[in-house]
Amino acid sequence: MENLTTKYLGLTLKSPVIMSSSRLTSTIENLKEAEDNGAGAVVLKSLFEEQIIHSISEIPVSESYPESDDYISFYTRSHSIDEYLNLIRSAKSSLNIPVIPSINCFSSHGWTDFARDIVDAGADALEINVFFLPLDRKKSAADSEKIYFDLIEKLKAKVSVPIALKIGFRFSNILYMIDQFYMRGVEGVVLFNRFYEPDIDINHMEIVPASIFSSEGDRRNVLRWIAMTSAQVIKINISASTAVHSGEDAVRYLLAGADTVQVCSVLYKKGIPFLKTINNQIKEWMSKNSFKNIDEFRGKLNWRNYEKPSVFERTQFMKYFSSED
Ligand SMILES: Cc1cc2nc3c(=O)[nH]c(=O)nc-3n(C[C@H](O)[C@H](O)[C@H](O)COP(=O)(O)O)c2cc1C
Repeated sequence: MENLTTKYLGLTLKSPVIMSSSRLTSTIENLKEAEDNGAGAVVLKSLFEEQIIHSISEIPVSESYPESDDYISFYTRSHSIDEYLNLIRSAKSSLNIPVIPSINCFSSHGWTDFARDIVDAGADALEINVFFLPLDRKKSAADSEKIYFDLIEKLKAKVSVPIALKIGFRFSNILYMIDQFYMRGVEGVVLFNRFYEPDIDINHMEIVPASIFSSEGDRRNVLRWIAMTSAQVIKINISASTAVHSGEDAVRYLLAGADTVQVCSVLYKKGIPFLKTINNQIKEWMSKNSFKNIDEFRGKLNWRNYEKPSVFERTQFMKYFSSED
């Protein structure tokens, strides 16, 4: 019998398949359905830094009663947080699988104070979705990178549960960044986040959101960096996120060296019970290839273990490589 048990962020999961953060993970009914269909863990919808900051800044400032503004600010902040803390508490009392709250942030200010409340509400680990768009041409890459490091240091001083950083791939040197995260005590990385991207509707001459769902072609770049990261000597956990649409996709990421995989788009399209199909497809593949445990094949095709590592390093189409030439 194939065993899907795996370790992630110091937790034992009965499957490497995690329901990733989105609106789907914002209700207890959905979370329960995910558990019933074999999710190894759930990452709750994100509490957004902007959500808190915006709701504070939208409150009109009253010059006559400055203390009342402090009170309203405090109330609004607490209210957003309270709703989120209630979600964590209910999830913890209704589920047996690990519950991982998520904070979506773009700075190291303000929100880190709330991280301890989130942990106290019962978080088994924390996922920090961090990205900010560098828009200031006077700031260097090092300035931007420092924001990540400051944030981790502040957070690590406040919470003791394991932390996974969910990041994008737009760094000058991803492996250096992941190494630096690990040196600062981060236990895991989620590779990668999928960001809101603008598109242009030429008929209405308007900016519109590009598709929020992943497609098949989004997987390759992620595969490369998981294969590279898992081949490093550091023992940071890796969760693959982007374009896990089937059990076969999950197997691809596990072979590249991921500890877990996260699913989102496919559950929007096929429903939460599809988690069961993904688990069954992984088991079928394991059975066909005579693997009993995930550890028997995890990382088998990573940058170090694969006999032709240059396939991961290749970036340009060489003449002989293209059938068009
Ligand atoms: C509708 C939608 C909402 C999302 N909301 C969040 C969120 O609140 N926090 C977060 O970290 N990621 C969020 N994501 C990103 C997903 O968790 C996931 O990382 C991304 O969609 C890539 O995985 P996929 O290819 O399985 O969709 C969202 C994605 C979608 C499609």
